[in-house]
Amino acid sequence: MRTISAVVIGAMGLLTCDIGVGDAQETVTRDELIVADYKQGRTAFQQRCSACHTLIEGSADLNGPNLWNIFGSKAGTRGDFPSSDVLKEADFDWSPDRLHEWISNPEGFLPGNKMMLPESVPEEDRVPLISFTMLETGAADWPRPKVEEDLVMQDTNKPISERFPSFWNHLMTNTTRYRLEWGDEDYIFEAYFNANGSVGSNINSIKGFWRARDDNFFCYALYGLPIELNEYVECFPMAAMAIPRFAEELWQSSPAEGVTLHGGILAGRPD
Ligand code: HEC
Repeated sequence: MRTISAVVIGAMGLLTCDIGVGDAQETVTRDELIVADYKQGRTAFQQRCSACHTLIEGSADLNGPNLWNIFGSKAGTRGDFPSSDVLKEADFDWSPDRLHEWISNPEGFLPGNKMMLPESVPEEDRVPLISFTMLETGAADWPRPKVEEDLVMQDTNKPISERFPSFWNHLMTNTTRYRLEWGDEDYIFEAYFNANGSVGSNINSIKGFWRARDDNFFCYALYGLPIELNEYVECFPMAAMAIPRFAEELWQSSPAEGVTLHGGILAGRPD
């Protein structure tokens, strides 16, 4: 069985959203960053960035690079991560303002970069998200605020339908669409995640199962694919799919050498 340890969900949805394009020059002040709401920033990061980025020193690159020590470092110089030429040639150091520009206007900031942020981060979440990122990547020179832990998130005895209701409803009532791409070939199929732990498909031979891990990752296996890649396993943070989105292609991963798997969610499913 092929296993991918780090997985990629997140570039979900291509909802057009112009909010923020006009206010990209705004300057983020230190005072704002210090008082920003840590939990709001954490939630925004979990929902919008965690599928592709880790923060802690030494953590793995996912679809995007690990972000430890990102502030003050030159764009496109993250260890072994294969940054795009656009990012490598962009001659600037990361600052709160630069990150604010990027997450306000993902399409306009550095055209041609390979970070597929599907929509701008809502205005009210931007400064909290930057503040949280600074605290978690070693850039903040102020103390981490004490936060009351969110008991609901902690209680892994509760079913995920209660802990992550929007994720749960989205996945269990809609169709997950996959497109496997290798060489010139394309293979498309649908999968239906079921509350009982099974995964069905519109292709008879394809079957699967899923389970939720205690660290709030959702893992699933699919097998019986009638192509070279016969089976695979993927895991992703459930928080990364907390914002329900529909599109044929929302995330992408590479389950085997030369194979790209595109995943998306389509509304509804056959009876
Ligand atoms: C779908 C995956 C994905 C998501 C979601 C995502 N990123 Fe990225 N990120 C990437 C990729 C890929 C790159 C490298 C871009 C390039 O090389 O052009 C990147 C690069 C970056 C960089 C620049 C690193 C460098 O080398 O200079 C920063 C900063 C960053 N992301 C922050 C964020 C933040 C903050 C969020 C959430 C609002 C986010 N990213 C969401 C995939 C993602």
